[in-house]
Amino acid sequence: MTTCSAPGKVYLFGEHAVVYGEPAVPCAIERRARVTAEPREDGRVRVEAPDLSLDGFTVTWDDSADERPDLDVPTPLVEAGMGYVNEAVAQARDAADAPEVGFDITVESTIPLGAGLGSSAAVTVAGIDAGTRSLGVELSTEEIADRAYRAEYEVQDGQASRADTFCSAMGGAVRVEGEDRRTIDAPPLPFVIGYDGGAGDTGELVAGVRALREEYGFAADTIGAIGDVVRRGTEVLRGSEPNGGADEELLAELGRLMDFDHGLLAALGVSSRSLDAMVWAARDADAYGAKLTGAGGGGCIVALDDTEATETALDYTPGCETAFRAELATEGVRVEG
Ligand code: MEV
Repeated sequence: MTTCSAPGKVYLFGEHAVVYGEPAVPCAIERRARVTAEPREDGRVRVEAPDLSLDGFTVTWDDSADERPDLDVPTPLVEAGMGYVNEAVAQARDAADAPEVGFDITVESTIPLGAGLGSSAAVTVAGIDAGTRSLGVELSTEEIADRAYRAEYEVQDGQASRADTFCSAMGGAVRVEGEDRRTIDAPPLPFVIGYDGGAGDTGELVAGVRALREEYGFAADTIGAIGDVVRRGTEVLRGSEPNGGADEELLAELGRLMDFDHGLLAALGVSSRSLDAMVWAARDADAYGAKLTGAGGGGCIVALDDTEATETALDYTPGCETAFRAELATEGVRVEG
């Protein structure tokens, strides 16, 4: 039996603009998916997922069962989650050259599902690592990232970006620009996340930005400006001491750039009332900065704050379902205990 875990992520900067080849900086967060894999000889795959959401529910999934289990949670969400597990299993079978092997899989996750925090990437990355290791095969982190991307690509009908799976596998802060993906130095970043309990439709939001860009030249300029924010943010991070303390000046500069990025994303039409309310609550609580993270339309914001003030303020913000602290995760996929 082997257990591996992998982190979720937030975008410090650059979502949406990254679709047009601009750089983006996703950061791994200390919220993890843990996947335990135990090979079984009968070829069946049995999955237990006791806490796939913050609300907590138990799913037992048996790929050979004639009938789907009776679930008191939204079935599409569970079907999607099981899709990632199945594709991770397919990748593990392929990597270990064991096409017939079955698995008992347990998935535990503290990353809210469907909130834009990379829960599916984390499950897929941890699942591939746990599955292959349980068969005595150790993949490089790069290969895990690549196979996890291919798994997500299958489940998401070719709509996957490499950012989530790369960030989850590698950990820390990463910079993605076209085909260039690399980890970059970053100090400990005190992230606070606010979640409105919903999620935007990524495909629709990306299409909306595309339509705006085709209609208005200044929307293209706005996308370019997000790229400039990312370039500046990368320079700021470059000047930091990796794993040293994050000084106030550096956090203040990153926070200003996050505020700027949020304004540009709002101009592109991908914010929402609840996301704006959470961003303003964080700013009123004197966070260094705050922005939506991911596709927008609903879901999560990320703020930088090394005090309790933002978390407390978010707890009282209408539209915020839950708020939590999640430091930068310096480690990506790893073996547990
Ligand atoms: C969604 O998490 C991030 C977007 O930039 C889409 C993508 O990069 O595929 C909005």
